Amino acid sequence: MAGETLTIIDNRTGKSLELPIQKGTEGPPVVDITKFYKEFGLFTLDPGFLSTASCKSTITFIDGDEGILLYRGYPIDQLAEKSSFLEVCYLLMWGELPTRPKFEEFSKIVMEHTMLHEQMLNFYKGYRRDAHPMAIMVGMVGAMSAFYHDSLDIQIPRHREVSAFRLIAKLPTIAAASYKYSIGQPFVYPKNELGYVENFLRMLFKVPCAKFTMSPVLVRAMEQIFILHADHEQNASTSTVRLAGSSMANPFAAISAGVSCLWGPAHGGANEAVLNMLNEIGSVDRVGEYIRRAKDPNDSFRLMGFGHRVYKNYDPRARILKKAAHEVLAELGREDDPIFKLALELEQIAQSDDYFVEKKLYPNVDFYSGIIQSAIGIPTNMFTVIFSVARSIGWICQWMEMISGKESIGRPRQLYVGAPQRDYVPLHRRP
Ligand code: ACO
Repeated sequence: MAGETLTIIDNRTGKSLELPIQKGTEGPPVVDITKFYKEFGLFTLDPGFLSTASCKSTITFIDGDEGILLYRGYPIDQLAEKSSFLEVCYLLMWGELPTRPKFEEFSKIVMEHTMLHEQMLNFYKGYRRDAHPMAIMVGMVGAMSAFYHDSLDIQIPRHREVSAFRLIAKLPTIAAASYKYSIGQPFVYPKNELGYVENFLRMLFKVPCAKFTMSPVLVRAMEQIFILHADHEQNASTSTVRLAGSSMANPFAAISAGVSCLWGPAHGGANEAVLNMLNEIGSVDRVGEYIRRAKDPNDSFRLMGFGHRVYKNYDPRARILKKAAHEVLAELGREDDPIFKLALELEQIAQSDDYFVEKKLYPNVDFYSGIIQSAIGIPTNMFTVIFSVARSIGWICQWMEMISGKESIGRPRQLYVGAPQRDYVPLHRRP
């Protein structure tokens, strides 16, 4: 057999099998076990995908030990510093940075799709005002398939592209309307001559009776948050999108599945949980108590915004956002913000504590993003919504890659540990 292989021997029978080893451009090689069941009659068990690659992908690479994140090969810190969110969208979608004419064409197409079908706005009125905006988001993104069904034939590349443009363009409008509805303010229509992120912030904060202005420093920090959240390879929500899409479900349905998954506090909901936690801790002198709780195996409390399945080093996104938080608070004249001070203190104490050091628990992207958003005036319950808007480009690209790669339907196997086969007992004969 050509190339490197891994030989597996079944000690029960002595049968051996050479499994091919596939090498990617970066990261550890992968053993191809597709023939494993056929040859050995055994499944492999890996709940949580600790050792299992679920697909091949060309989009994003993470080296969790080194704290490296690349979009299409470009380091995240370079993109966060020099690029724009729309340029990152182009890069993720097409694999290369755009030329100026290509970028202008792309931006024009996206910004010309920002408005929602007017009837979609009626949907909002059906939700309770006090609904979590993420709950509205899940419903509205799924509802897109009821309004944009002229682009739902996923076998046609042009349809896939049109759906992608609609998702990138309309999600900020949907998200902003979710917020406006929850606070009883009128919806704000998009303004296409603004940049993507500035338009979103305007739709969040503009009221008919006042002019909208926002410091470029705050807009740039938000743009960085969008760039940093754009993709993160096969995380839970992205895998959900790929799995949902593998049944040939339409992209709006698949992306709304991703939004649902992202909502959980162990994933995208963590940024909301971080701010709630910091508010609950309240002051620096209570940090020790919470560190003790986080370390107590009998206490379910975890330090939110700490730890990551892949990063066993400082999350490169957290480093960028820590700097952005300093810049935003300086711009607002709030360098002494007590919650930011508390976060810095918490990070410092955790980073010198053996428990966190040994388990390699570092701040993740969510640790500082909430502080920035809160300083900008975004309420806590919108953090995960914003994460979902930014991540939608990653989901779309991963979905497109999966569909165009003609991957078969995702169908994990299981180790069944339930009751063995038994006969039905009629109700009147049961004890
Ligand atoms: N606080 C305290 N202890 C922690 C934390 C934490 N935040 N995170 C992990 N640990 C401990 C666990 O208790 C476990 O201890 P043990 O070995 O004694 O049992 C050990 O570290 C390993 O933890 P796992 O849960 O096995 O790590 P996993 O990789 O499965 O989980 C996760 C990663 C879910 C992110 C976890 O670190 C966590 O819950 N963090 C807080 C929530 C959070 O910030 N989520 C955002 C993730 S980033 C994102 O989705 C954008």
